[in-house]
Amino acid sequence: MTDAEAAPGGGSATGRSRHLTVLSGPNLNLLGERQPEVYGAARLEDHVRRVGAVVAAHGWTYDHRQTNHEGELVEAVHAARGRSAALVVNAGALTHGSWSLHDALAAFDGVVIEVHLSNPSAREPFRHRSVVAPVADGVVAGLGGLGYELAAEAAIRLVDQGRSRGAPQGREAGPARGSGREEGR
Ligand code: DQA
Repeated sequence: MTDAEAAPGGGSATGRSRHLTVLSGPNLNLLGERQPEVYGAARLEDHVRRVGAVVAAHGWTYDHRQTNHEGELVEAVHAARGRSAALVVNAGALTHGSWSLHDALAAFDGVVIEVHLSNPSAREPFRHRSVVAPVADGVVAGLGGLGYELAAEAAIRLVDQGRSRGAPQGREAGPARGSGREEGR
């Protein structure tokens, strides 16, 4: 378990806490040992540290939770409600089939960025569908640890632009989450 915690910071222009939650699903605790040819040599805490640097540069705070259990991941999304302005989620293999995670994320009222170290679309067919993507504001995949930095940067910028579920979208922010196809991919 590689949980990290930093106390939520003060309010933001959007009225929400400037706090980001990073969520990691099954088997990500094995990063660094697990298929390094696919996922690289860095450990999960290395990726989380990169998020921490981005978050700190923006004056935000963050927490991180890794779990190998679907229900715990769902509960971690619930716990972020009203507390975190944004989620960066690498749900591991739950990405490809957890509708309970999909529903929990749909009920989260902040920004959601899906991140993957590898590019699931270029891998086995079962990885081509994401049930997270339809309820995410954006997806970063295939960029290794850099993807974690970019995901955190994107999450913070979208919040700072006033993006939240149901809020009017700025031109730069792109289409609203859920405005695209309802099918997974
Ligand atoms: C992953 C991709 C998933 O398909 C896989 O099950 C993982 C890691 C990634 O970060 O590339 O556990 O989410």
